[in-house]
Amino acid sequence: MSSESQNPLSDAFVASALAQINEASDESALQQLKVNLIGKKSELAQLSKTMGSLGADEKKQLGQSLHEVRTQLGSALDARSALLKQEKLNAKLASETIDVTLQPRGRKLGGVHPVTQIQERMSEFFIRAGFEVANGPEVESEFYNFEALNIPSHHPARAMHDTFYFDSEYLLRTHTSSVQIRAMQQAAKNPENSLPLKIICPGRVYRCDSDQTHSPMFHQLEGLVVTESANFAQLKSLIQSFLSEFFGRKLDVRFRPSYFPFTEPSAEVDLFSEESDRWLEVLGCGMVHPKVLENCGIDPSVYTGYAFGMGIERFAMLYYGVTDLRLFFQNDLRFLNQFA
Ligand code: DAH
Repeated sequence: MSSESQNPLSDAFVASALAQINEASDESALQQLKVNLIGKKSELAQLSKTMGSLGADEKKQLGQSLHEVRTQLGSALDARSALLKQEKLNAKLASETIDVTLQPRGRKLGGVHPVTQIQERMSEFFIRAGFEVANGPEVESEFYNFEALNIPSHHPARAMHDTFYFDSEYLLRTHTSSVQIRAMQQAAKNPENSLPLKIICPGRVYRCDSDQTHSPMFHQLEGLVVTESANFAQLKSLIQSFLSEFFGRKLDVRFRPSYFPFTEPSAEVDLFSEESDRWLEVLGCGMVHPKVLENCGIDPSVYTGYAFGMGIERFAMLYYGVTDLRLFFQNDLRFLNQFA
């Protein structure tokens, strides 16, 4: 630097100072420059200390020059500082911008389980037909699950049920028919207000059985109608309308004589499957056995009833074309997502 440029009042000094200010890249560099250029120990400050020894005119002139340079550098420092602050803010804003055009990450919603969907679809038909939904316990006594349904302990039908027993009295219900008994007992307490009785009972049932078409826990939907004039023709027409409405088309339906201890006469209902070219059994039904009415305190000489029971998974398999029932209970999302 020439001696001229070291003179803090020289154009060269001022130009170099302004250049440094404009190159300062951050606030702390700028702060340092401020100290160096106009601080107490700066050359400007040194120079102003010499004023005391000057004459009035020179003093005035120097004072004015010092003031001008100080003001010029001061405002350059302020301007640079404001610019740095603005740049810093802009950078911050730029780094925090939200791209509103990005695809949302999305939250996967769960769906109703296919078996529950079918249960609801089945129930809806009967609710529209005036049935009420009844519920009963899954841990049942022998009385409700067997005895009252005309299945005494020595009866071979008990063996068909593969029952899970807790002890000699309690068990996991093997069918929803137990709810019939509870509903009829309840109705018998107050027949004028409770009869005719029209209920369905959807729910879980348990049997010690597991393969492609059986699971130890599955679902049934039971139906029961007790009136002074219930008959098999009504049962048949109800089941036929239910089946064609459920599957959304007219189907070949066959009522095949069968046996259940709690109904007489009894029938099993088959659907003709065009895909497999054979009859598929879909439900059991019949006229409530007079002994069962009696067991519940309902007079079989006044009232008659019909009942039906069906496996919900079976309907789900037919409806969705699922061939392995166990898929419904493995909770594999690849399977379940198809029904969401
Ligand atoms: N409880 C029978 C079962 O689990 C199904 C059944 C058949 C229910 C005939 C009924 C009926 O109400 O009338 O296999």
